[in-house]
Amino acid sequence: MIRSVVRGFGAALPKRVMTNKEMESKVDTSDEWIVQRTGIRQRYIAGEGETTASLGESAARAALARADLTADDLDLIIVATSTPDNTFPATAVNIQNRLGMRHGAAFDLQAVCSGFVYAVATADAYIRGGLAKRALVIGAETFSRILDWSDRTTCVLFGDGAGAIILEAREGSGMNADRGVLTAQLRSDGIHGDKLYVDGGPSTTGTVGHLRMEGREVFKHAVGMITDVIEAAFEATGTTADDVDWLVPHQANRRIIDGSAKKLGIPLDKVVVTVDIHGNTSAASIPLALDTAAADGRIKKGDLVMLEAMGGGFTWGSVLIRW
Ligand code: ACO
Repeated sequence: MIRSVVRGFGAALPKRVMTNKEMESKVDTSDEWIVQRTGIRQRYIAGEGETTASLGESAARAALARADLTADDLDLIIVATSTPDNTFPATAVNIQNRLGMRHGAAFDLQAVCSGFVYAVATADAYIRGGLAKRALVIGAETFSRILDWSDRTTCVLFGDGAGAIILEAREGSGMNADRGVLTAQLRSDGIHGDKLYVDGGPSTTGTVGHLRMEGREVFKHAVGMITDVIEAAFEATGTTADDVDWLVPHQANRRIIDGSAKKLGIPLDKVVVTVDIHGNTSAASIPLALDTAAADGRIKKGDLVMLEAMGGGFTWGSVLIRW
């Protein structure tokens, strides 16, 4: 059977770092409050000329270089983002053009913080279905541009950045020993739409709007939803928590990450945590964390890597990959 195997990875961050100390000068908050409640110590904030497409392009170029490929070798680009450069055309098509790619297909996918998990699952389905042979999957965001910078309950949580992986069709045996995506589990439930949303859009207000969140409500659902889709991935593949080499969670909040790992019985030394340096970068957080842990040698070829995310919608999902 065909498997979607990771051939390359890359990431990009804005030049500017904003520490919690600096945040104290913007809103009534403290480094202590932010660290204790979220684990976040700093985040990167896009400056002039840095956009979702420019960050996505840099992450894509890093992934292509690492895979020893050029854009000519791709036939699909999916960009997971909730902060596109424009309402249309898609940021994916913008990045396709920046890469000088004049063939294939490119589109955006919007599932907020679960966007990268949804995009990997979608690229995998395209590859296994024969619609694509080599897909560039990007998570890229500039959430700083949709934050209400006077709202301390949200503005301290988010940051900007981009990460990318390249998935390639390879023949596998159909067994768990295969490299590549082994299973993807996706869920959504719009009943939770008012707990984490943006209060504007092209068809309602004609404006971009600002992020609004009922933090406690999100927190209440997060651990249960995350563990549900991870257990579904275990069931689909006949694997257990003991088989997982690395849990690479969406980086929203240290307490959610620790709570999920504990409930699943995955020791914290197998969990990749970057929320302290990146903040919550929504769809970019998982590929940024993958890049960090693969580049520093923690995630190695053959390792079993569980991705998970939960976010606005609500949407949630998991992907199990043999790296
Ligand atoms: N600095 C200082 N005080 C603050 C801040 C701040 N930045 N923000 C809120 N407070 C105050 C509140 O006003 C409140 O004060 P009060 O008691 O006088 O009314 C107090 O802190 C407690 O506020 P809560 O909202 O109850 O704080 P909580 O412990 O729930 O922590 C948090 C808030 C961190 C947002 C938490 O609810 C959480 O982690 N939620 C999960 C949501 C999340 O991580 N979302 C990210 C996006 S969603 C996703 O990616 C899955």
